[in-house]
Amino acid sequence: HSDRFTYDPGFTSTAACESAITYIDGDAGVLLHRGYPIDQLAEKGDFLETCYLLLYGELPTAEQKAKFDRDVTYHTMLHDQMAKLFTGFRRDAHPMAVMVGVVGALSAFYHDSTDITDPNQRMIASMRMIAKMPTIAAMAYKYTVGQPFVYPRNDLDYAANFLNMCFAVPTEEYEVNPVLARAMDRIFTLHADHEQNASTSTVRLAGSSGANPFACVAAGIACLWGPAHGGANEAALNMLTQIGTPDRIPEFIARAKDKEDPFRLMGFGHRVYKNYDPRAKIMQKTTHEVLAELGITDDPVLDVAMELEKIALEDEYFKERGLYPNIDFYSGITLKALGFPPEMFTVLFALARTVGWIAQWKEMIEDPKQKIGRPRQLYLGQTHRDYKPMDKR
Ligand code: SDX
Repeated sequence: HSDRFTYDPGFTSTAACESAITYIDGDAGVLLHRGYPIDQLAEKGDFLETCYLLLYGELPTAEQKAKFDRDVTYHTMLHDQMAKLFTGFRRDAHPMAVMVGVVGALSAFYHDSTDITDPNQRMIASMRMIAKMPTIAAMAYKYTVGQPFVYPRNDLDYAANFLNMCFAVPTEEYEVNPVLARAMDRIFTLHADHEQNASTSTVRLAGSSGANPFACVAAGIACLWGPAHGGANEAALNMLTQIGTPDRIPEFIARAKDKEDPFRLMGFGHRVYKNYDPRAKIMQKTTHEVLAELGITDDPVLDVAMELEKIALEDEYFKERGLYPNIDFYSGITLKALGFPPEMFTVLFALARTVGWIAQWKEMIEDPKQKIGRPRQLYLGQTHRDYKPMDKR
């Protein structure tokens, strides 16, 4: 059919969007947020500082940071009616399914106060999203483990508050370990934004029609859930556990090369990075810090991960395809050590990515050239033909 269809020049210009938030150089393994390298933000700042940077474009002054932290802290509570929503789910529901439903429901609670044409309301919606996501994620976790919800506390910082809401129980004192809270905060920073990945593109496309931003974030959560995207952290840990011991690695490497077998090494490869994912290096370092803090000196899954990485990085098949560990390769080991079950890993990714989704949504809404997204297609179907009566078929 190619003679019938020629690409409209406008097609390519609408295929990519313009953004000033995050820059990735896949060949060099570079990730910048508003020009600042991810390793500096993760090591020297905290997650809410990165949230401020993504939303406003500049690092906050001490006064701006204090106000931002306070505003987020005082928006962490959820309308009490929302707690009833959770009871509609089975206890064994995947927490990502719960997140899609509950975050989508936020659009009902804030429908009347989300006038996206009002800059102030856009910022309030952004703040609410960042503030409430940990509360919803913790409630999703508590619901699946059958424990009572724990309310947010205003005396704890963002990551410590989240860990407290997940792991505190009414029957005994719970003290958040500050080293683990710092590691959790850094993991949030590593996942904050990543240019036009599948879930961010989903949020932008949904938002381009003027839809409620909470509903758009729910669409992003749905997309992130897939094992080819955010679901890879859960899949990577399951794969490493399935491998079990370093001597079984060659078997899985062979399977990954077998064109007949669609098996892919979870946590390896990337649509953009054809070099080492800069986030993976920081994640590996965080893994070692968390295991050391917890006194875990022998983690067989970590041994398998490190040996698999070593073998793959020396293997021509992986090198010529630019297959390196991505952020999901080590994150599962760290999150498991922090106390989370594998089905919560992508929930934590969604919690952190919310600021990226909402910053990109806000940038798109505020772009005066913004139009509704309308990806085009290359039509491969039948050309015109007339209807056939039943007796002629
Ligand atoms: C995230 O986009 C983002 O920025 C996403 C993300 C974010 O922060 O938002 O970075 C988060 O989603 C990270 C990716 C997590 N997914 C996984 O770890 C799942 C395992 N990875 C793969 O499914 C895969 O690498 C993708 C989906 C990530 C990328 O797939 P592509 O684009 O098809 O990979 P490619 O075209 O570069 O593949 C080139 C070759 C192919 O072989 P050939 O046909 O050339 O012979 O490499 C092979 C692929 O079959 N290949 C793999 C592989 N990934 C690609 N072979 C074995 N194991 C793998 N993981």
